[in-house]
Amino acid sequence: MEIFKTKSALKDYLAPLKKTGKKIALVPTMGALHNGHISLIKLAQQHADIIICSIFVNPTQFTDPKDLEKYPRPIEHDLAMLNEAGCQGVFMPNVAEMYPDGKDENWHIDLGKAEFLLEGAFRKGHYQGVTQIVKKLFDAVEPDIAMFGQKDFQQVLMIKNMLAHFKLPIEIITCPIIREDDGLAMSSRNIHLSPQDRIHSLVLSKSLQFVVDHFQEYNLADLEEKAKAFYNDIDGVELDYFTIANGNNLEPAQNKEEENLVALVAAKVGSTRLIDNMIIK
Ligand code: PAJ
Repeated sequence: MEIFKTKSALKDYLAPLKKTGKKIALVPTMGALHNGHISLIKLAQQHADIIICSIFVNPTQFTDPKDLEKYPRPIEHDLAMLNEAGCQGVFMPNVAEMYPDGKDENWHIDLGKAEFLLEGAFRKGHYQGVTQIVKKLFDAVEPDIAMFGQKDFQQVLMIKNMLAHFKLPIEIITCPIIREDDGLAMSSRNIHLSPQDRIHSLVLSKSLQFVVDHFQEYNLADLEEKAKAFYNDIDGVELDYFTIANGNNLEPAQNKEEENLVALVAAKVGSTRLIDNMIIK
């Protein structure tokens, strides 16, 4: 497995491969890898010849400096996992390589109304930061395809809107959510959960599963109300939102007959903020 710290070293490696027609996949990550990330690598291998995984904790997408500071960075473990998974290249630039003009360089694009809903309402500017770095990674790799997890449902939508904005010829593949055996969606942040938080964290997947399982039985308002009631009286758990939304624009669903419905949730469990979602149809 090759490791690249600069865009130019990465380009030198990729240029001859592209000339011989190899299909390139990019898997962008912030490291602290778990089996959810590895599933993206595995799925990429079914669609492309060369898999490049990027590891970069992107400062411009963090709204809370403390969150950025405490973001886990177990780099040796990450590299071992990627090597084991059969990833060909890892791009791990430093901040100056990705932001040579400083982090506050001018970046603002129109991502549509959905930018400001759900996560966007709780994390101001988050999706500008995400699309900014993903555009830089796309420019560095110029992949044929790029893999993103449904775990970050809104992120996939924002990246597709960014691609449309720049008319980039990259295929986005959305990968299913990988969960622990008890239902908790895997996340790099789960290591911050105390044993008590870890038990409480199951309320996210349980409330989502309730909506999926009982979708035919209740109307939308009752489904949301019953799902929210899961969060009553759990010590140290604070619900940010639970919504049944249209998966194309994340607006609240108007009726059950709509296509592409998804239930999305965010909650603080102890001091850790978790998100999860399940596609209803
Ligand atoms: P990160 O949180 O490291 O996630 C990298 C990719 O892994 C994302 O596409 C995410 O949706 C996916 N992923 C995370 N947990 C998953 C799970 N349990 N199952 C399946 N896929 C999962 O998302 C980011 O990094 C950043 O915002 C990034 C896109 C790299 C830009 O900085």
